[in-house]
Amino acid sequence: MTACIVGWAHSKFGKLDGETSESLITKVASEAIAHAGIEPRDVDVIYVGNMNGGFVKQEFHSSLPLQTHPDLRFKPSTRVENACATGSAAIHMGLNSLAAKKARFVLVVGVEKMTELNSAQAGDVLIKASYVAEEANIEAGFAGIFGKITSAYFQRYGDKSDALARIAVKAHRNGVKNPFAHFQKEFDYGFCRNPSDKNPFVAGPLKRTDCSPVTDGAAAVILADTDTALSMKQAIAFRAAEHVNDFLPMSKRDIIQFDGPTLAWKRALESARLDLLDLSFVETHDCFTSAELIEYEAMGLTPRGQGERAILDGWTERDGKLPVNVSGGLKAKGHPVGATGVSMHVMSCLQLSGAAGGMQLQAPKLAGVFNMGGAAVANYVSILEPVK
Ligand code: COA
Repeated sequence: MTACIVGWAHSKFGKLDGETSESLITKVASEAIAHAGIEPRDVDVIYVGNMNGGFVKQEFHSSLPLQTHPDLRFKPSTRVENACATGSAAIHMGLNSLAAKKARFVLVVGVEKMTELNSAQAGDVLIKASYVAEEANIEAGFAGIFGKITSAYFQRYGDKSDALARIAVKAHRNGVKNPFAHFQKEFDYGFCRNPSDKNPFVAGPLKRTDCSPVTDGAAAVILADTDTALSMKQAIAFRAAEHVNDFLPMSKRDIIQFDGPTLAWKRALESARLDLLDLSFVETHDCFTSAELIEYEAMGLTPRGQGERAILDGWTERDGKLPVNVSGGLKAKGHPVGATGVSMHVMSCLQLSGAAGGMQLQAPKLAGVFNMGGAAVANYVSILEPVK
C-alpha cells in the first residue's frame, strides 16, 4: 500500500453540447481539489489523460488544468495516452511520481470530448487504437474489431447472444441509478436480444445495444502518499496496481484468450494477497458486451468459454456474488475514452466511501477495477480499499 486516492470528482457523461475539454478539465480539477480539502498550491504534479487522436482540434492538453487556478501555474503537467486505458495510465504515472517521492499530492484528470464527430467519424479515430498496418480496414471502427473477436468466440464456444443481451440489460438497469450516466434508461431483454430498426447490427454479431456509446465527459482524482493520506478526510488505498501490455497485432495472439487481462488480474490479486471473490464488486471495461463476457473468464470468475454462466446465473448482478459494473459500466455510463479509467476509480471510491447514492452497495470493502486499451493490449487492474 503505497498511495491513496484522497479526493475525486466526476462530470455528467453524455453528449455535452456547450462543454469543451477545457471546461470539463477545469470543472473536475477544481472539484477534486476541493473534495480532497487541499489548496491548488498543494498540488505538486499533474497528469492529464486524453486520447484525442482527432476528436477535437486542441491536441496539446497538459496545461489546461492550470487554468483552474492561478496557483497551478508553473506546476509540471503531462498529457498521457494509452488508448482506452488512458485514464488508468495517467493514474499510474501519478502513482510513480509518489513512489519516486517527487510529489505529495498529484492531480490526475481524464477527459474526452468525442461528440463533435458523428459515430462514423469517431469510429475512424478509434480504429487508430488497432494495429493499423493489418486492421485499419476493418469496417465499423473499433466495433468492427470487437465484432471479429465476438464472431471468433461464438465459433469456438457457440452463439452467446443471450448472454450478451443479459449483460446489456444489466448495464442499463444499473445505469438508471447513476446520475452521471450517459443513458439513464432501461432496455428490456427482448429489445437487446432482437435486431430491429432501433437496435441494428453494427459489426458481426454485435448490435447497437452491445456497444458503448460515443460520449463526452471528465473525471479527476487527487492521489497522495499513504502517510499524508492518513491525515486526510478520506483515503482509498491501492492494495494493488498492475499494468500489463500485450502485442498490438491481433494476428500475434489468440485474441479470445485475453492473455494480457488475465495476467494483469493474476498479478493484482497475488500482490494484494486476495482471491477474486474477496472483492465486493468489480468495475470492468465493457466497451462491448462481449468484452465483459470474456473478462469474466480473464478475471477468473469462470473457466474459459463459460463466461455466460456469470451473467445467466446472476452472479454479476447488483445482488450477485460478484456485482460487476453497478455504475452501468461503459455501456450505460458512457465511454469518453481518456476519462474512462479515472471514472472507474471514482465510481469505486464513491462505493467504498458510502457516497454512491442510489448505486450504493451494502458496506463494500474491496473494489476491483479493470481498464483496457485496444483489444486486450494495455491492461490495468487496481484493487482499492478504504483506509479512512
Ligand atoms: N447503445 C444504446 N443506444 C445507443 C447507443 C449505444 N451504444 N448509441 C446510440 N444509441 C441511441 C441514441 O441515443 C439514439 O437514440 P434515440 O433515437 O432514442 O435518440 C439512437 O441510438 C441513434 O443514435 P446514433 O448516435 O445515431 O447511433 P449510431 O448508429 O450513429 O451509433 C454506435 C451507434 C453503436 C455505432 C456508436 O455508439 C458507436 O460507434 N459505439 C462504439 C464506440 C467505440 O468504439 N468506442 C471505443 C470502444 S473500445
